[in-house]
Amino acid sequence: MKILVTGGAGYIGSHVSVALREAGYEVIIFDNLSTGHRWASLGTTLIEGDLSEMALLVRTFEIFRPDAVMHFAASIQVEESVREPLLYYRNNVANTLNLLKAMQTCGITDLIYSSTAAVYGIPKQIPITEDAELTPINPYGSSKAMVETVLRDLSRVGHIRYVALRYFNVAGADTKGRLGQAYAASTHLITRALKTALGIYDKLYIYGTDYPTPDGTCIRDYIHVEDLASAHVAALDYLREKGNSIVMNCGYGHGYSVKEVVSTVKKVTGRDFPVEETARRRGDPPVLVADSSRLRATTGWIPRYDNLFFIIETAWSWEQKLKDNPELLKT
Ligand code: UFG
Repeated sequence: MKILVTGGAGYIGSHVSVALREAGYEVIIFDNLSTGHRWASLGTTLIEGDLSEMALLVRTFEIFRPDAVMHFAASIQVEESVREPLLYYRNNVANTLNLLKAMQTCGITDLIYSSTAAVYGIPKQIPITEDAELTPINPYGSSKAMVETVLRDLSRVGHIRYVALRYFNVAGADTKGRLGQAYAASTHLITRALKTALGIYDKLYIYGTDYPTPDGTCIRDYIHVEDLASAHVAALDYLREKGNSIVMNCGYGHGYSVKEVVSTVKKVTGRDFPVEETARRRGDPPVLVADSSRLRATTGWIPRYDNLFFIIETAWSWEQKLKDNPELLKT
């Protein structure tokens, strides 16, 4: 069975492509390499292209005839989305509409869609269930929620069948050391903290210590990227067997504060580094923790790496590899 993976040369898409291949699927990656890397395809067929190129998309579908599409290609940084909303609506909404149109043209119905906990905005209840109201507070979350609406409407009239996976905070790297996040300008907490431990940054800023949480810093549900990848394979198997469209959270169901993450990074690395507490970052909700019972019950997904120390250890190995091999950031 063939799966076309948009964004398959990026951080999450590359891990999922490996998991799909290991589960016996044939994979074709479609990626514009804007933040992804050729090496991250690990030998999988890679079509270099942008989702704005409708003719190329249709031709790719016609040649490869995939049985399903997994759609990762997107802009993903909350803070950037606040500064550059149009970039997010064009890349995440308009380009996804192109993808959906090309799928329709070629008679492809099955889609696994990368959504995000950012669709919830500031949730009223923790842990968050999928039925919570969607009130995103940044353009990134809005762009993903808009696409979810489109998917729901298309599925209602039988044009597609889909699983939308709402990711919480994806972190860590391939346990075999082949893959990891390779984006020099990443603003994610664990990546930033590790790069600070390596001396790439002078200090780590903690954005906001006056949140309504026990230590005043934001709480997030950090999920290892390989567990997220296995959730995708499980979601695909579910869609192929059952065929009912569904939305599911991807997280472990418990969270850590920014300060807890920073102290774990110091333990894992054995390095102390300067940390400065500063003002809140725009667009950050105080607490995002998943209720993941639907994913577990629907697909039988069982996570393997629900351990912050281990998650950070895998990311640490990867960050050291990146520092020793700076060409990985360019190629
Ligand atoms: N943070 C710092 N200092 C930093 C970086 C981050 O204090 O240098 C804080 C942030 O303010 C936030 C927390 O660490 O409170 C986590 O921030 P990240 O940037 O690592 O992740 P976000 O929670 O902002 O966003 C991530 C993904 C989104 C996804 C969201 C869902 O990037 O795509 O998780 O939980 F929607």
